[in-house]
Amino acid sequence: MLKLKNISFRYNASSPLLINNFSFSAEKGDIIAVRGDSGTGKTTLLNIICSVIPKVFIGDLSGSILHNNVDISELSLPEVAPLISLLMQHPDNQLFFPTVEQELAFAPENLKVPTNNIIKRIDEVLCRLNIESLQFKETTTLSFGQKKLVTLASIITLSPEIYLLDEPFAGLSKEYIKIISNEIKTQAGNGRIIFLAGHSDDIDQFADKTIEMGNLNEKH
Ligand SMILES: Nc1ncnc2c1ncn2[C@@H]1O[C@H](COP(=O)(O)OP(=O)(O)OP(=O)(O)O)[C@@H](O)[C@H]1O
Ligand SMILES: [Mg+2]
Repeated sequence: MLKLKNISFRYNASSPLLINNFSFSAEKGDIIAVRGDSGTGKTTLLNIICSVIPKVFIGDLSGSILHNNVDISELSLPEVAPLISLLMQHPDNQLFFPTVEQELAFAPENLKVPTNNIIKRIDEVLCRLNIESLQFKETTTLSFGQKKLVTLASIITLSPEIYLLDEPFAGLSKEYIKIISNEIKTQAGNGRIIFLAGHSDDIDQFADKTIEMGNLNEKH
């Protein structure tokens, strides 16, 4: 269970209040659409939920975020990341290693998952997303859509409880949209909480709840 309590945020004193005393809660299996025009703060909200704001990017943040009654401000970023994982809007910002296999091994290696288990996780996720052919490819040679699937695969290897997917369908082919859609449904069916940031209809079909940025009224 995730609770946002009285969240307010602005980047600095001279910038507008993007989030104003916003409270929200999500239960296991919920899919939440985070909607709004460009610049309304969708990415910002996801960064707050996974504590990239204020741990990496600073700003004027108040309120609290409770994950299973633990205030995430008390956790370090490496502790939060395996629980609440972010798929970044721009995959190039999330690819760090020369090959896809190295990219996918990194997070579970960091979590000290045994090697056998890492290999199994990688095989499984490549198969689930239908990208087995990319396993030994260099990440810099991938298309945008392939990069998106590889970054999604990299967070799936963490098996997080909460997925924050920032514009997961933007710029993708129908085939890749279908693969990611199926994965979202599977993960939600397994009790994961999933936030989907996006502009419009592509995310609405999934949503149990909606957060409208700009006025931040929660709708059920
Ligand atoms: N690091 C930052 N410092 C100051 N202002 C920022 C920073 N990052 C974003 N902003 C501003 O905050 C506002 C919200 O940005 P954000 O990226 O969260 O919007 P978004 O809804 O995700 O937009 P898009 O649909 O284009 O992805 C924008 O006006 C943006 O310029
Ligand atoms: Mg954004």
